[in-house]
Amino acid sequence: MIIYKTDEQAEQMRWSALLVSKTLTEVAKILRPGLTTLSIDKMIGEFIRDHNAVPSFLNYNGYPFNSCLSVNDVVVHGFPNKNELKGGDIISVDIGVILNGWHGDHAYTFAIGNPGKDVIQLIKVTKESLYLGIEKAIAGNRIGDISFAIQEHTEKKYGYGVVRELVGHGLGKNMHEDPQVPNFGKRGTGTKLKEGMVLAIEPMINLGKKDVYTANDGWTVRTKDGKPSVHFEHDVCVRKIKADILSDYSIIEEEEKKNSNLFTS
Ligand code: MF3
Ligand code: CO
Repeated sequence: MIIYKTDEQAEQMRWSALLVSKTLTEVAKILRPGLTTLSIDKMIGEFIRDHNAVPSFLNYNGYPFNSCLSVNDVVVHGFPNKNELKGGDIISVDIGVILNGWHGDHAYTFAIGNPGKDVIQLIKVTKESLYLGIEKAIAGNRIGDISFAIQEHTEKKYGYGVVRELVGHGLGKNMHEDPQVPNFGKRGTGTKLKEGMVLAIEPMINLGKKDVYTANDGWTVRTKDGKPSVHFEHDVCVRKIKADILSDYSIIEEEEKKNSNLFTS
């Protein structure tokens, strides 16, 4: 069942999405080689609680951390750990909050130092595909229009692997609501989009093949071929002319550019 949001509710959700953007911005400030992902997770939890919200991932289906920190060949749901980040690593930082009862859930991939031109291109193209998908998130279109736009730009144009096992989703008072938003599919198919639908659109794109597996911890999703994977996620509200992006990359990108430990293309 799809739960449509009133304009007022969408504005409430913007605060939740923006708190995630602000948390990602704090992460962009501190990222450097030598930092452990566990210390990043701790900072994330503190920042969220300092802003009168709770980290929604913690204890979700038993998930044991505040955030998902997915390094290199980890696609999503990476456990924060005591390993130090090093130059050439990429890290997807995926954060969820509940603020005043509303969920925000979005993600950004950073490069620590230079991961090489192939991976830099993967990051750039995955982010582009997210925005191409968002362009299709308008009333009257269908979910498949979003899916197709993402798949065309990543798989068809660049030969990247589009993960099939994990998809985007509706968002609201629950982290996962209907409909599902796959990153692959056919134009003109699937649920019709209507004003007030709030979607978390989240391409997960592999440099190599699309195949992934879940590690023995029951969570960590990795590429089978061991090649890197990139993940970007925005929260958007479907509107008539143009989707309203509730989350905000501009504040993250500003700090990303200022931080000389991070590679930006
Ligand atoms: N952003 C992810 C999603 O959309 C992460 C949630 S998994 C969790 O599903 F267990 F960590 F919460
Ligand atoms: Co999500």
